[in-house]
Amino acid sequence: MAEKVVLAYSGGVDTSVAIKWLKEKHNLEVIAFSVDVGNEPDFPAIREKALKLGAVKAIVADAREAFVDEFVFPALKANAMYQGQYPLATALARPLMARLLVETAIKEGAKSVAHGCTGKGNDQVRFDVSVAGLAPDLKILAPARDWDMTRDETIKYAKRHAIPLPVTAESPYSIDQNLWGRSIECGVMEDPWAEPPEDAFIWVKSIADTPDKAEYAEIGFEKGIPVTLNGNKMDGIALIQKANDLAGKHGIGRIDHIEDRVVGIKSREVYEAPAALLLIQAHQALESLCLSKEQLRFKQIVSGEYSDLVYNGLWFTSFREDLAAYVESSQRFVTGAVRLKLHKGSSTVVGRKSPYSLYRHDLATYDKGDVFDQSAAVGFIHLWGLPARTQARMQGKKKKEG
Ligand code: ARG
Repeated sequence: MAEKVVLAYSGGVDTSVAIKWLKEKHNLEVIAFSVDVGNEPDFPAIREKALKLGAVKAIVADAREAFVDEFVFPALKANAMYQGQYPLATALARPLMARLLVETAIKEGAKSVAHGCTGKGNDQVRFDVSVAGLAPDLKILAPARDWDMTRDETIKYAKRHAIPLPVTAESPYSIDQNLWGRSIECGVMEDPWAEPPEDAFIWVKSIADTPDKAEYAEIGFEKGIPVTLNGNKMDGIALIQKANDLAGKHGIGRIDHIEDRVVGIKSREVYEAPAALLLIQAHQALESLCLSKEQLRFKQIVSGEYSDLVYNGLWFTSFREDLAAYVESSQRFVTGAVRLKLHKGSSTVVGRKSPYSLYRHDLATYDKGDVFDQSAAVGFIHLWGLPARTQARMQGKKKKEG
């Protein structure tokens, strides 16, 4: 009996060709494994397609809840954005897929897992390193990395082998999407000077088509996690979906990023991430109220490191656990609400409140009710300025002379 392999199957061109390839070139029984991380199309159709192409079994796992709870919200708490621009939608889903792939391989008695990533991208790194971090002895196959075909050649191969192309394969873009965002690559956008064409965008309206009237979004957080939107309590999945719709409708969430890939290539990446941008903005606004100056400054460093490690495929490492522990601890008073005004492509924070707010009106006010003792400032400044005064006395003149 042939050995089994569990293939991460998206229903797209590469992974569909991979089913045939693994069967024919490697003589393996292919178990197609698809993961629902939100905003993906028709999973029953994807399952059927896998079976039609010769998979011995096709499994669909609804992993939306795990994705939100274990990957997206921890990243939101960290305000994770690679190079300050990309909220990491694709990057966050890969380690979860790898974990499920490994679990399925063990359950099904497969000795290897496979994915459809090419040899130029980040996703191969994330899959391979995640699998290695979870099951170091499992074999990993990456047919699209081995077959060395261009996208055109892959499509021709598919046609030759009667592999039905998804309708979207006619579109020139390579898309990966989940609840946290939509990544768009290829086509004319490979020229960094070319403006992304309007048809690349689906979630975020063009400014010309957005409402003339501004709309407010009030987001309630509990310990860093968004729990209400405009007063309605929602689970994470529903809240993110709703935030995607709301921000997208007002033209918020398009990203055009010249990105540094793990393998050393600069690439032009276009994203739609309305909910991610909105929620990170709101979360940061609440943190500015609830965290001290030192916590905020240090958190920025942690956030940069955290974003890089997620991007670089290092989710299943001790480093990630250590950073996540700091981030988690920093969130214990990040509870409250933020109000944003959405209008014509921009979202502006217009209000924030928290029962743990460090903003004290009686300290900040210039009006009646001021409890700040202004006379205490004199002594404080005397000591604060002591080093400056000392240096000026001892070296100021010599500096001029020297
Ligand atoms: N550049 C992004 C990242 O590395 C998006 C990758 C999109 N992947 C894809 N298969 N189209 O996370």
